[in-house]
Amino acid sequence: MTDLDTKIKKFVQLILDAKNIIALTGAGMGTESGIADFRSPGTGLWEKVNPDEFASIHSYVSDTKKNLDFMLEMGMNIFKAKPNKGHKALTMLQKLGKLTGILTQNIDRLHQKARSKNVVELHGTAYEAICMGCSNVYPITIMIDQVMSGKASPSCDVCNGLLKPNAIFFGEPLRSETLSKADKMIEACDLLIALGSSLLVYPVAFYPRKAISLGAKLAIINIQDTDMDYNAEIVIHDKIGDVLPLIVDIVKSELKQDK
Ligand SMILES: NC(=O)c1ccc[n+]([C@@H]2O[C@H](COP(=O)([O-])OP(=O)(O)OC[C@H]3O[C@@H](n4cnc5c(N)ncnc54)[C@H](O)[C@@H]3O)[C@@H](O)[C@H]2O)c1
Ligand SMILES: [Zn+2]
Repeated sequence: MTDLDTKIKKFVQLILDAKNIIALTGAGMGTESGIADFRSPGTGLWEKVNPDEFASIHSYVSDTKKNLDFMLEMGMNIFKAKPNKGHKALTMLQKLGKLTGILTQNIDRLHQKARSKNVVELHGTAYEAICMGCSNVYPITIMIDQVMSGKASPSCDVCNGLLKPNAIFFGEPLRSETLSKADKMIEACDLLIALGSSLLVYPVAFYPRKAISLGAKLAIINIQDTDMDYNAEIVIHDKIGDVLPLIVDIVKSELKQDK
């Protein structure tokens, strides 16, 4: 048995033993769908642009046009992306009754496109725009149409306030309803599976610690090391799309044998 086989076997057993599993997903979940993450060496977005100049609420307000050009490029890539093998494997795990819900940092809606249920979008979504004046929410197409027709600062029909994508920018707080839903999921789970996240951005960086302190186990699939590797029951440093479908297939056949 290779080292990977042993790890996969252990991962499967953790899933079979658990009663309430939550997946915590990050940008590494989307890379196999063609969406760049932030921190992968060579391909991560932060090697190309400075996060202080883009994607912060301060930079958006002070130079809307420059930020919108960057976001539109990123957005177009997101809108054409399709769920990959990893998203589909999570949906299968849920169909097998082995995944309660997903906490995602991603704004790409690929879990929902793969028909996973109970997905909490911690950082909002690229598919909506929100007014910074009155908080009215619009489909993102309304905002894109205004930008495409040459408007430098897209605006709200109701109050004329500045529209922004309904994703959380740096410097913005997360929504309190979202945070309390996520807290409940973390408090209730007995296995947390972290997938494709550097686990550096708060509050996500805090969730594995909180789950473990409440008695849950942690399992990680991530190409690079994370700060939480030493606290996990199992860590697989590999591509999600190569490993997760194998794990879910074995879980499926083990559950069939039990019937
Ligand atoms: N798809 C998206 O919606 C998207 C894309 C870019 C950034 N973001 C935002 O990025 C922020 C950054 O935090 P983060 O922790 O999610 O991302 P991150 O960029 O900090 O970390 C991504 C991690 O995923 C790993 N990884 C990349 N491809 C992988 C694969 N195929 N299989 C396994 N691991 C893989 C990398 O090694 C890295 O450690 C989040 O706030 C999120 O909102 C989202
Ligand atoms: Zn408004």
